[in-house]
Amino acid sequence: MKPFDRKKHWNSIYQSKTTNEVSWYEQTPTTSLAFFNQLQIPRTAKIIDIGGGDSLLADHLLALGYEHITVLDISEAAIQKARQRLGKNADRVQWIVADAAQFKPTEQYDVWHDRAAFHFLTDDGDISAYIDHAQKGIAPNGILIVGTFSKQGPTSCSGIEIKQYSQRSITNRFKAFFKKIKCITIDHKTPFNTLQHFVFCSFRKPTVLK
Ligand SMILES: C[S@@+](CC[C@H](N)C(=O)[O-])C[C@H]1O[C@@H](n2cnc3c(N)ncnc32)[C@H](O)[C@@H]1O
Repeated sequence: MKPFDRKKHWNSIYQSKTTNEVSWYEQTPTTSLAFFNQLQIPRTAKIIDIGGGDSLLADHLLALGYEHITVLDISEAAIQKARQRLGKNADRVQWIVADAAQFKPTEQYDVWHDRAAFHFLTDDGDISAYIDHAQKGIAPNGILIVGTFSKQGPTSCSGIEIKQYSQRSITNRFKAFFKKIKCITIDHKTPFNTLQHFVFCSFRKPTVLK
């Protein structure tokens, strides 16, 4: 049996569906933006959206005056779509095509945001590698915002299994390097009028690790 090729999988999803034909579509990423607002992220912050795909988060952050935005995704088709949508503004964003489990950041970010990408990592080695890259790629005092399907949420998405988290289990996953700030649960209403239960947590990377 051929090993699962996640890059190919995501490229074919983005090549066959329009932006608002996917379950994760949000016209306005309300929960993510609320975290930015509540955490008072300065407009000069260096932000990376991991598994950003063709999410409209970058558009909203640009409109709010954020200047240093990077979007990373495993799918070049997703990045191409996002760039096309943004038009001239695409040049104000840095784009990286990479697998988050293998991405070795060459700079440090003040905010590492991930909505519904981390939960696709189901292999312990991939999960540990992701967390290691996050802790290296986040500046001291920097913020990690991560949203995954909760234990009451779906068990798969776009035909592949995901790993569900509770507030406790996600906090435990990141606790070696990050201090929890806040967790919430929300229902995401898909374009097909179904609900997906998410857990969203914010963490801070302490300047000194104990
Ligand atoms: C459910 S979509 C969410 C997209 C976006 N974050 C949003 O909220 O609209 C998952 C995204 O994660 C990307 N992805 C999945 N596995 C990945 C990996 N290992 N590394 C980087 N991106 C990945 C997919 O290509 C897709 O864009």
